[in-house]
Amino acid sequence: MSAPPPVRPTLPTDILARKGGVPLVCLTAYTTPVSRLVDPHCDVVLVGDSLGMVLHGLPSTLGVTMEMMILHGQAVMRGNTSAMCVIDMPFGSYEESPQQAFRNAVRLMAETGAPSVKLEGGQHMAETIAFLTARGVPVMAHIGLTPQSVNTLGGYKVQGRDADRARVIADAQAVSGAGAFAVVLEKVPDGLARDIAGALPIPTIGIGASVACDGQILVVDDMLGLFTDFRPKFVKRYAELGHTADEAIAAYAADVRARVFPAAEHVFPDTLKKSPSK
Ligand code: KIV
Repeated sequence: MSAPPPVRPTLPTDILARKGGVPLVCLTAYTTPVSRLVDPHCDVVLVGDSLGMVLHGLPSTLGVTMEMMILHGQAVMRGNTSAMCVIDMPFGSYEESPQQAFRNAVRLMAETGAPSVKLEGGQHMAETIAFLTARGVPVMAHIGLTPQSVNTLGGYKVQGRDADRARVIADAQAVSGAGAFAVVLEKVPDGLARDIAGALPIPTIGIGASVACDGQILVVDDMLGLFTDFRPKFVKRYAELGHTADEAIAAYAADVRARVFPAAEHVFPDTLKKSPSK
């Protein structure tokens, strides 16, 4: 019997080739165990800068650093087998110039082993995306609501309604024309996301966008219900692990206080019983 063929990691070019096909399944991961859990089910695993809020308790993604992205990127890559891994470029690491973006993208890829990066911005980032892709850095773009611009956008609002529609369409065309292999559409109205997905030659990955996108992404902690107090409209909760964890921790606390944990099966006997010899 011959051994099964080795699993080959998905590449950015494989993701590009999935345009218009079976929808792309994408989730975030920030640690090795979660990377191992999501990898067999996902086409794309994103080490998102949402880790600043989700893991580190920051108020926004603005305080996330290159060092944080590299540390979590390395952890995720240790659990990665087949999904295409993409790492977010943190705020301040790419906006200054294409050269700054190239230096930091290369650092992210070289120090983690991930095959691609994601950055936020549309028309104003097109020159940078073209510069990176021409030099061997596959780029996933991110338009619509771009959380790193929360202070200039005036909050985490839906983008592309009414007068803003033309801007979001121009952003989508610009990043696609510049060579991005896929684009995240965040908090873009359904009809607009549908139009963009139909018009662009690259996969569109929706979050709070449309079922017509070429794929969907969610923050894994959100869809697992790890937070009880964060319920954005676009997140479907597939589990309530926050409640389950709360109940488990309360039960542990009660057991410790009542001296019922550890029980006999959790402690080590002073002498080992000899098994009868045959
Ligand atoms: O940082 C992140 O997790 C993201 C996704 C929400 C798309 O950018």
